[in-house]
Amino acid sequence: MQSGTERPRHTAIVMDGNGRWAVSRGLPRIAGHREGASAVRRTVEAARALGLPILTLYAFSSDNWSRPRPEVGALFTLLREYLDGEATRLRDEGIRLEVIGRRDRLPDEVVAAITRAEGTTAAGSSMRLRIAVDYSARETIARAARRLPRGSESPREDLSRLIGGPDVDLLIRTGGEQRLSDFLLWEAAYAELVFLPCPWPEFSRSHLEAAIEEFSRRQRRFGRIDDAAEAV
Ligand code: FPP
Repeated sequence: MQSGTERPRHTAIVMDGNGRWAVSRGLPRIAGHREGASAVRRTVEAARALGLPILTLYAFSSDNWSRPRPEVGALFTLLREYLDGEATRLRDEGIRLEVIGRRDRLPDEVVAAITRAEGTTAAGSSMRLRIAVDYSARETIARAARRLPRGSESPREDLSRLIGGPDVDLLIRTGGEQRLSDFLLWEAAYAELVFLPCPWPEFSRSHLEAAIEEFSRRQRRFGRIDDAAEAV
C-alpha cells in the first residue's frame, strides 16, 4: 500500500462465505468457520500493522440463531477459543477488545470469556477491535430509540450517543453478496462500501490493503457538492 494512502478511521467487515468455501472443498461448513477464525487472527494483525484505529467484525448476527444447533455451537466454541487464546497477545499489542450485541442469550462460558478478554485488554490504546456477537443493528437502534429523552431537541445527536458506535468509514463484505444484513445501519450512513468476491477464509492483508486503496480513491462528499462545482 502506498504510504500517502488515506486510511479509514473505522473499518467494519461482514465476514461472509465461510460455508461456501468449505462446501466447495467437500468439507463441513464448520471447517469454513475454523478457517474463518484464522482469517480473523490474520486480519487483526494486518489492521494493527496498517495503523487502522478501529476495526469491527461481524461474527454472529441475531439472525444466525436460526442455523442448525451444531453450527451455532461450533461458532461459539471458535469465538471462545479466539478470546481465550488471543487476549494476551491483543493486550501486548495495545489492542482493546470490545464485544457489541446482546449478551443475555449467549452461553455462560462465552459471556465469561468475553468479560475476561475485555478485562485483559482494557488498557489498550493503539487500536480498538470490536466483535459483533448476537448483534442486530435494527434492535440496537430500536433499544436506543426507547431511551431517547422525551421531547429531545436534538434527537439525531441523542440517538447517535445512545447507539454509541463510531461512524463507519469503510465497510467491507467478503463472499460476493452485496448487502448489509442488519450490520451497523446507523453508523454506516456514509460508509464507503467495498464488496469482494473472495470468501472470508481467503481474506488476507492484500485484500485489506486493496480495500483501503479503493477507499482512498473514493470522493467522500457527505451530501455536499465539490468546491469546484460550487464555483460554476
Ligand atoms: C458467514 O459465513 C460467517 C459467519 C456467520 C460467522 C463468522 C465467524 C467466524 C469468522 C469465526 C469465528 C469468529 C471469531 C471472531 C473468532 P457463512 O457461514 O454465512 O457463509 P456462506 O454464506 O458461504 O454460507
